[in-house]
Amino acid sequence: MKILLSKCTPIIITLITLITLTTLSCTKYEIPGNQAPEKDPVSDPVVVSTCDPDTVYFQNTILPLVVSSCATTSCHDQASHKDGVILTDYASIIKTGEIKPGDPKDSEFFETLTDDGDDLMPPPPYDPLSSEQIQLIRTWIAQGAKNNSCYDGCDTTNVTFAGQIWPMMESYCTGCHSASAPGGGIVIAAYTDMVSLAENGSLMGSIRWESGYAKMPTNQQLSECNINILQKWIDDGFPE
Ligand code: HEC
Repeated sequence: MKILLSKCTPIIITLITLITLTTLSCTKYEIPGNQAPEKDPVSDPVVVSTCDPDTVYFQNTILPLVVSSCATTSCHDQASHKDGVILTDYASIIKTGEIKPGDPKDSEFFETLTDDGDDLMPPPPYDPLSSEQIQLIRTWIAQGAKNNSCYDGCDTTNVTFAGQIWPMMESYCTGCHSASAPGGGIVIAAYTDMVSLAENGSLMGSIRWESGYAKMPTNQQLSECNINILQKWIDDGFPE
């Protein structure tokens, strides 16, 4: 037995060396960091300078809508993460919302928006998303659920409530300020609501994050362009 063992020792040592070498060389292949994006091309942020009217852009449209409608306190923000779902940024929305790029019907996040039972999101007392908002999310997923954004300048000519102000409110604000669940008791549901908030100063105070006002939206300040559009609407006397 002893003889057999000592005869085997060189073979065992060779085997161990071989296994160690194989493991090391495998690990090496995983190390190069800059290859990671190739594995997951969807997450590459894509910024274009011309906004294509047929494309739905994640950063411009989907993120503000999802954050104001779903990532609210006690729902799907980082701290609350109900059911492990966090809807505050691209990576978490794709991962915890179980989004299958190109396939809205097979994406958990999309299914819950149209569920006809207890799984409907947002749940009561919050309003469900409007059919236009649901359609935007469907199109974004169908177009590949990319982390895309576009910016083709800031147009502050002819600012009207129907044209720019209400669509902006629907993206950034109404999820928290609907009549059925108004954050801080503030309702943003109609033209007159906006006029009174503008007139009492709290609209611009809160979106400029001025001291003495609650910071709105709560997670990230509106773009300079959107702030200028709101200011222009006020300066022009609230065109409808
Ligand atoms: C995540 C939820 C959420 C979003 C999104 C949100 N709000 Fe609010 N808002 C609140 C809550 C909650 C309060 C009450 C906060 C407080 O009093 O501290 C509030 C307060 C306000 C106030 C009163 C501020 C003051 O200090 O008097 C205004 C005006 C307002 N929001 C406008 C907006 C506008 C405009 C948007 C979109 C650009 C927006 N909010 C987006 C939750 C939200």
